[in-house]
Amino acid sequence: MIPIAKPQMGAEEKQAVLEVLDSGMIAQGPRVKAFEEAFAAMCGVEHAVATSSGTTALHVALLAHGIGPGDEVITSAFTFIASANSILFTGAKPVFVDIDPVTFNLDPAQIEAALTPRTKAIMPVHLFGLACDMEPIMALAAEHGLAIIEDACQAHGAEYQGRRVGSFGTGTFSLYPTKNITSAEGGMITTADKSIGEKCRVIRQHGMRRRYYHDELGFNFRMTDVHAAIGLAQLGKLERFNAARRDNAAYLSTHLKGVIPPREPEGYHHVYHQYTVRVPEGQRDALAAHLREAGVGNMVYYPVPIHRQTFYVEELGYGEVQLPKTERAAAEVLSLPVHPALSQADLETIVAAVNTFTG
Ligand SMILES: Cc1ncc(COP(=O)(O)O)c(C=O)c1O
Repeated sequence: MIPIAKPQMGAEEKQAVLEVLDSGMIAQGPRVKAFEEAFAAMCGVEHAVATSSGTTALHVALLAHGIGPGDEVITSAFTFIASANSILFTGAKPVFVDIDPVTFNLDPAQIEAALTPRTKAIMPVHLFGLACDMEPIMALAAEHGLAIIEDACQAHGAEYQGRRVGSFGTGTFSLYPTKNITSAEGGMITTADKSIGEKCRVIRQHGMRRRYYHDELGFNFRMTDVHAAIGLAQLGKLERFNAARRDNAAYLSTHLKGVIPPREPEGYHHVYHQYTVRVPEGQRDALAAHLREAGVGNMVYYPVPIHRQTFYVEELGYGEVQLPKTERAAAEVLSLPVHPALSQADLETIVAAVNTFTG
């Protein structure tokens, strides 16, 4: 089976982990600091704060902006559950707006109608490795005094108008093994704002500025040096990994027939965390089964939009929310392997398997 994702672990990662284990400093230490500095540079910002996961990065970033009970945060429902759950963790309310059906990302034109006096932030999710349309989102945020918390968990190195994601507002990244780079588990917050960076560090570590003096409520959301050593080695390979993903995506888009390939609009740099096609209505699940039979791993990201998840409907009352473009995408999308470990033979197998089905 050609897997839908495959972490690339080389000699560098192994050597780096062994060095940490031998160093005696295995919790948060110098490797975390080095990883933070290198990650900030990758995004073109001054500050980065490593956390235990993308979810905790989102949670800390929201708290650092003072988001809490009574506040609303506008985001997409066509994303992994952590985007919205992190808003719930703070006591605030996720307000979902529909997506642009071409990019699968938050449609800026829908945001204004969702604003209320309680809106405190917008959380654009750069889904599948493609940046959101940030210019109108930034303009709305500036006009209404809103924070921008970017969920860039799937978009390491993605760009919009020459600028990297994670540099438009407060950025958050996941370093889960299926992501474009990994630290096994881990997350990263990026910001140009020194005070937000400092606040994130305090929240990450039990609200502690001075050892054992706790000025506010915080958590243990730290990253270990073992994880940072892996992440640092991976970060050195990000541009190569992303280039391979883009080459694989270009090959698939040239050769696949009968499905709608993902788009990279003008001015965007897609990093293809997922290569997600649309399949004509009603045929998606049959194609998925056909591909599995042909040895081609695939996955539906995401079959149930967040406003339709049981917990959101039954416990939180989102049952009335209608997001037609989101719902249609959930019924039509299928992600195919695009990761850097694919061989030419794998790409040909994927194309042949899709094209025999779509005719
Ligand atoms: C869009 C999005 N947001 C948030 C997360 C949460 O990241 P993590 O799994 O590292 O907690 C993920 C990870 O899958 C994600 O894809």
